Amino acid sequence: DAGKGGYDHYMLKEIHGQPTALSNTIEGRIDDGDVALDALSPGTFEDVETVQFVACGTSYHAAMYGAQLLRAADVRTDVLRASEYDSMAGPVDEDTLVVAVTQSGETADTLDALRTGADRGARTLAVTNVVGSTAAREADDAVYIRAGPEVGVAATKTYSSQAVTLALLTQRIAGDVPDATPHGDRAAMLETLADLPQQVETVLETTDAEALAEEFLDSQSYFFIGNGLGHSVALEGALKFKEITYEHAEGFASGQLKHGPLALVTEASPVIAVSTGSDDDKTRTNAIEAQSRGAPIVAVGPDDHPLVDVADAHLSVPETHPVWAGLLANVQLQLLSYHAAKLLDRPIDKPRNLAKSVTVE
Ligand code: G6P
Repeated sequence: DAGKGGYDHYMLKEIHGQPTALSNTIEGRIDDGDVALDALSPGTFEDVETVQFVACGTSYHAAMYGAQLLRAADVRTDVLRASEYDSMAGPVDEDTLVVAVTQSGETADTLDALRTGADRGARTLAVTNVVGSTAAREADDAVYIRAGPEVGVAATKTYSSQAVTLALLTQRIAGDVPDATPHGDRAAMLETLADLPQQVETVLETTDAEALAEEFLDSQSYFFIGNGLGHSVALEGALKFKEITYEHAEGFASGQLKHGPLALVTEASPVIAVSTGSDDDKTRTNAIEAQSRGAPIVAVGPDDHPLVDVADAHLSVPETHPVWAGLLANVQLQLLSYHAAKLLDRPIDKPRNLAKSVTVE
């Protein structure tokens, strides 16, 4: 128990470790309005035409976040579940960059995708937490997320550090790839990143997640929705929830709720709607649709937002650039899962059937 530093679980310690982890992730990587990422000097990616992210589990959701930012920069981008790489990769050549996103650097499916990409001629990059891991050793280059060791099986601080590292990486890549357009207000985006650790601290100090977890504890299913960058956050929120509470939880792109899942929506299925403060119209419309079928709506995002006006409950996050808002919402979702699992007396740090790192395919 000594390693838990006074917290009941490693997971809670790691959730609270995010301000420090994020400070470490960011430190020294923004230089004079530009991104400086380890050995990846400007020009490193000038031959890249297509980027393929490969990852599993929580790392896949971080990869989705990065992929969306890269697409917004007009770089041809795929994000593939590593176990599907063989059949889904499409054309790969020496102008392809395969980015393996893996906390441990040891996930068999992800290593297999990395090797397959390399065999087909792609250049490879590992984004990982573990220095000297297999992914870091085998890839052409490695970027470290610097989150520090994570003991809880459910990934928390490593997701936040991955997403931020990938956001920085996308700006580095977009700076190099011919015809790419780095984020329109990249200067503001990078400037506000410096506030993120303190804003996570604010969420940790002011959260109402425990009370909400209790209020909705008897629910039948939990649906998480989000649009744009909020989509990957919704998927991650649902994954975390099912991993540690053993309750039925699903994440959807907001606009997809009405294409099937709505049949499952009742007053016993809260809809947790992620807002990033941008691209939220579909989330609001579809939340209202679910609400009219009796589902309670929990808005997770900045105050003063049209989604909050219609919601039955709200988990608030500080105002920030839309690129970072989803990461603050995710902290609220981590806490919601944690408190629900604790109230249900689940073995939070070691959920049944799951392993921190899965080294079989
Ligand atoms: C396992 C863990 C997940 C993790 C996934 C990928 O399934 O239980 O929490 O997200 O592996 O792990 P990686 O180390 O590659 O990020």
